[in-house]
Order: sequence, then structure tokens, then C-alpha cells
Amino acid sequence: MPSMIPVKEFADRRRRLMERMAPDSIAIVPAAPECVRNRDVLHPFRQDSDFQYLSGFGEPEAVLVLIPGREHGESVLFCKERNPEKELWDGFLAGPEGAIETFGLDDAFPIADIDDILPGMIEGRSRVYYPLGKDHNFDARVMDWVKVIRSKVRAGAHPPGEFVALEHLLHDLRLYKSASEVKVMAKAGEISAEAHCRAMQRARKGGHEYNLEAELIHTFMAHGARTTAYPSIVGSGANGCILHYIENSAPLKTGDLVLIDAGCELECYASDITRTFPVSGRFSAEQKALYEVVLSAQYAAIDAVRPGNHWNHPHEAALRVLTQGLIDLGLLSGTVDDAIASEAYKPFFMHRTGHWLGLDVHDVGDYKVGDAWRQLEPGMALTVEPGLYIAPDNTSVDEKWRGIGIRIEDDVVVTKDGCRVLTEAVPKTVAEIETLMAD
Ligand code: GLY
Ligand code: MN
Ligand code: MN
Repeated sequence: MPSMIPVKEFADRRRRLMERMAPDSIAIVPAAPECVRNRDVLHPFRQDSDFQYLSGFGEPEAVLVLIPGREHGESVLFCKERNPEKELWDGFLAGPEGAIETFGLDDAFPIADIDDILPGMIEGRSRVYYPLGKDHNFDARVMDWVKVIRSKVRAGAHPPGEFVALEHLLHDLRLYKSASEVKVMAKAGEISAEAHCRAMQRARKGGHEYNLEAELIHTFMAHGARTTAYPSIVGSGANGCILHYIENSAPLKTGDLVLIDAGCELECYASDITRTFPVSGRFSAEQKALYEVVLSAQYAAIDAVRPGNHWNHPHEAALRVLTQGLIDLGLLSGTVDDAIASEAYKPFFMHRTGHWLGLDVHDVGDYKVGDAWRQLEPGMALTVEPGLYIAPDNTSVDEKWRGIGIRIEDDVVVTKDGCRVLTEAVPKTVAEIETLMAD
């Protein structure tokens, strides 16, 4: 399937990164390592997000090198050579020729030659940007290449003096999504929304949590999204109060809610949706009361996602509505301001209202600039995901509330006058959910 991101955009990203690099510097970005699952079986390969962002090249055993001002080409890829015998077993390889022709790199070499070629490219550059500290093996390889240069100083070689974490420059670029990135993320959101609808409709048949997980995977795969962006959470009853519950093995019981937090990954871009709904198709009075609070909090938070507001505004908006709701329902006492100041809400709402979203589900980008929350700007993508969780053993509240866990999560992109919700195709009002489940 051709990528929804044009080849030219990857070149633009490399150019923009190089514009931010010092002129006498070099950047070295490795592909993800392959990981053994067991014995001779590997985990399905997932490209490193930084490498993917800059190259669109999906193979392992590759290294991207950016050398501003290099005469024979600034963007260089080291990758596996074509090999008919190997390709017969493991599939197509682009080879250095394909890296140039198909992926638009300026120059390319076999990865087997990197130890001979790369030290010569680093020589004379004073600063090296690379993902410092991310992978011990790669840190060691960079130092090995530098040692080769150091061993030649008496012959006049100039080893680099500065090693800088690449993420400071690169992750700020990744924070602002282009129109084509938003297109991919919207498509991922659409597929995930359809998957949530299918799981909701399946729930009334009963079975186990994993039966709903199967429906999610079915829809993701049916649309060519071959993997989830993170392990799916399907928690029924009190399991909905376990934030990272992934066992997904309990039987679905009439009278319980199910919390599903799941999203597909498409072209390495994540989607991340949570919906909470009753197994029976009808909310009980207590479930509905708490659900309406979380939904109001989510609307308030989404309303606060706009330029002019900062990162924490949506969280503050959600927190106020959730805390007021807990007081109104008798789960907390006192005033909203006091409950927020004393963090009395924390046993019921212990996480943040969202995170950046992109190539990583918890995407890169700073949340603060110095001591100040980051201003929201067009192109930033984030989740909005307030929740309320009444622990099954919380004896400070009436028994009728215990074991109810609710979260509602959508993916949004900041626009010039507000935000666009990418995942609205899955219902979230009580009436909409009950109608869909009755079908
Ligand atoms: N599914 C992970 C999260 O919502 O942050
Ligand atoms: Mn989620
Ligand atoms: Mn999330």
C-alpha cells in the first residue's frame, strides 16, 4: 500500500532538521533493533519513530546520516544490500539503489560497509547529534567510530568534540503535525472508532473480555492497520479501575460496565480511544450519573483545546467538572476549590487528562517551556481522556458506587480557532451508546 505521506515530505523534514543543526555537524539516526521473542522467533518489527519520521524507510539494520553541506548528498542511508537468496526467505529489500530511487535519499551505501565509511563522514565535524543514551549498543558503536578518528589525530584527523542528544531538535519538529500526518491520524482514528462500535455491538452476546478484544483486532486488520498502537485494555466491572489492565480474560457480566482503551497504528501513527459502556446495553442509575460527569468533563476539556490556551488548561477544565460532580453525587464533601487544593479527588482521578499523540502513543515534545506550560498551537495532536475510578475496596463511599471505572478518550488536533476531534465516529453520549447497542 503506498504511504499517505509523500516522499517529498520526508525530505522536507530532513531539511528542516538540518537547518536547525550546527553547520559543521552530523546527525546519526539508527533504525530500531530487532527483538527476539523466543528462541528463533522475532517480535514483529516496528521501525524506530525518529528514524521513520526522517526516512519513511521500514527496514531494520539501517542507519540514516544527515550531513549538512555534504557535496555528494546531505541525506545518506546505510541499509541492507539486495540479495535474491535472502529475499526468497525474508521478503523484499530496497537496497541502497532503492533507498535513493524510492525513498528519495541523496546517497546510500551497504550497511556492511558502515564501519569503513562513517568515520570518514564524522571526521572534521565538530558536533554529533544522535539518540544519546537510548540504546547502549548504539552508544558504543558511535564511540567506536569516533575512536577510529581519534586514532588518526597524528595524521591530522579532527575528531568531534561535542555529542548532543538529537531529541532536543527533532522532537520539537515531530510535535507539529503536517496536513498529511493529520490525514493518516484521522484515518487511524476512523478505523479505531469503527472497531469500538463493533466491540460495543458484540458485548451484549456476553462471553469474555477477550471476545471484545478480538472484535477490535478484526476491524484494525480488516482495514490494513496490522497492529495496535499499544496493548488493548478491555476491563469489565472493577477491572475498569485498573488503569493498565491488559489481561482481558474475565467473563462479561450483565450489570457491569466495560472500559475499552484501544487504538490501531497506521503507518506508524497511533490512535488512542477509550469508551465505557454497559454489557447489557443499558446504564444503571449510578453508572449513568458517574458517566455523565466524566462526559461533561471531557466536553469541557475539549472546549479548552485551542490556541491561546496552554497544555494544562484542558486538564484544569476537566478536573473542575470531575471534582464538582464527585461533590454533587456525595462522593466528596466541601468546596471544589478545597477539594482541588487538597487533591481529595486523587483516589478517583489519578492520571492526567491527556498526552501528545503521533508516531508514539505517548508522543514526544515538551509539555513545559522552562517553568511555563506550553502554549497550544495549530498542528499539535493530543488526547483528551478524563476518567473516574471508584475502587472496589473504597469504604469511604456508599457501596453502590464501588467498582465502577469510567474513562472517555478522544484524539484531537489543535486548529487555528479550536480543535478537530479525529475520533468522533464512535458514540459517547448515554443515549447514543444505548441506541447503538440496541441495534
Ligand atoms: N492507552 C494509553 C493511554 O490512554 O494513555
Ligand atoms: Mn488510551
Ligand atoms: Mn491516551
